[in-house]
Amino acid sequence: MSVHIAAAKGQIAKTVLQPGDPLRAKFIADNYLDSVKLVSQTRNIFYYTGTYKGNEITIGASGMGIPSIGIYSYELYTEYGVDTIIRIGTCGAYSTDLNLFDVINVENAASESTYAKYAWGIEEELIPHQGNIFESINQTAAGLGKTVIESNIHTSDIFYRKDAAVPAIAQKHKCLAVEMEAFALFANAKYLGKSAATLLTVSDIIPTREQISSDEREKALRVMIELALESAVK
Ligand code: ADE
Repeated sequence: MSVHIAAAKGQIAKTVLQPGDPLRAKFIADNYLDSVKLVSQTRNIFYYTGTYKGNEITIGASGMGIPSIGIYSYELYTEYGVDTIIRIGTCGAYSTDLNLFDVINVENAASESTYAKYAWGIEEELIPHQGNIFESINQTAAGLGKTVIESNIHTSDIFYRKDAAVPAIAQKHKCLAVEMEAFALFANAKYLGKSAATLLTVSDIIPTREQISSDEREKALRVMIELALESAVK
């Protein structure tokens, strides 16, 4: 076990799908995996290991925000020998160029966060996806006839803010949307020489305040979940 994950060594697969929400991890495990075992539930952050189309895979949550995914992804890579993490999450669109339910494969994450600098001495405010998994996702999507938008996104520490303007860093790096975790995942993977990608479904359009309803959420996320699973076992 590691500090925050109770699984024994060997109970976590080499590839991990990482939603923010522990109940989404449970949903994926219940609906898509065979021979599933709950291998950690420390702090109610569930990790399940099972098989998808005969390939071993782990689905486990990151929690919300940079500090949380910073901890879980680091322990997965360093304590459990994980090679690849695919974050699967939601994002808010900064403009009406995106539509609800669009799926983004993140090229680079831009952030004002000091996480990468103070954890690993990585000074850049823009960190790319790591390894081959980003390209694998694009190829898998093309093969399945699914559309993914390749884009930079903004990883922010802030969900609620007084100012509706698009933050300067997001404008500078042409970020179409905002979420709260990819930058730390990419920073950890970069430092450790591991693979990491982030797939995001647009759950809200910030300027119009449109959002996916809770009823629509499960169906909406299935496209991204299935793409992540297929890419993971390719
Ligand atoms: N995730 C989904 N929507 C978001 C938003 N508006 N801001 C930050 N993270 C998000």
